[in-house]
Amino acid sequence: MKIISRFSTIINIFLIIICITSLSFTIISAGNFNQDVDITWGDGRAKILDNGDLLTLSLDKASGSGFQSKNEYIFVKTDMQIKLIHGNSAGTVTTSYLQSKGATWDEIDFEFLGNLSGDPYIVHTNIFVQGKGAREQQFYLWFDPTTDFHTYSIIWSPQHIVLLVDNIPIREFKNLESIGVPYPKYQPMRLQCTLWDAEDWATRGGQVKTDWTQAPFIASYKYFNADTNKNPSTSTWFSQQLDSNSKEKLKWVRDNYMIYDYCKDFKRFSQGLPRECSVN
Ligand SMILES: *[C@@H]1O[C@H](CO)[C@@H](O)[C@H](O)[C@H]1NC(C)=O
Repeated sequence: MKIISRFSTIINIFLIIICITSLSFTIISAGNFNQDVDITWGDGRAKILDNGDLLTLSLDKASGSGFQSKNEYIFVKTDMQIKLIHGNSAGTVTTSYLQSKGATWDEIDFEFLGNLSGDPYIVHTNIFVQGKGAREQQFYLWFDPTTDFHTYSIIWSPQHIVLLVDNIPIREFKNLESIGVPYPKYQPMRLQCTLWDAEDWATRGGQVKTDWTQAPFIASYKYFNADTNKNPSTSTWFSQQLDSNSKEKLKWVRDNYMIYDYCKDFKRFSQGLPRECSVN
């Protein structure tokens, strides 16, 4: 009896150790910048901090900075928490986007256009397929993105592309190959994040320039996660359409926070709107 119970105690301890190890392993694999990304430019201006939990990008008059995911993906859901530049960020552009390589590349963009203290950032989005973009939509946010981290996600599945802010869809681009609209499917994309200056167009169309006395400008990134549908039972995003609740939220964003939609720009597309505009 005694031997058996001692044996089971040992087994229990052993099981507990396994649990703890696998638990801490899942936490680590949920995102560590040291393992998941490469710093691509900025000559020391991009910094990985807190043992890989935090990454800061910095911009001054001489240069911006950037990093990219080590992995490439074909269909993925990416989540990134970002805290945008605090105070006067006019002229700056902070980004987080998926992009493939080559002259006929695909791209799904989140770009955050800075502003004077207290004036709203613009979230600028675009979708390129085989090197062709011109599908801009712009939004204001319903919170101040400079005081806290918020989650910016991209769903890229065979049936649609969805951009989400704190899990609220702000844009859906459906796969409309059936009516002849090209859709990204074949070229693997990497997540790219950058901070750079575009004072000639970013803020009020270029009217407000960057105040370099405020430099360096800092944007912070946390909790990068890329779900590649390796475990279909948990990756519901891969096969699901937007449910009615998500559609309602998307409508709320479009009704209240959308400031530009290429699909409503009849002046620009005087020869006729792009084909997808008749459906989306
Ligand atoms: C900056 O603030 C002005 C004034 O509120 C606004 O018109 C503009 O859309 C804001 N955002 C950018 C990026 O210019």
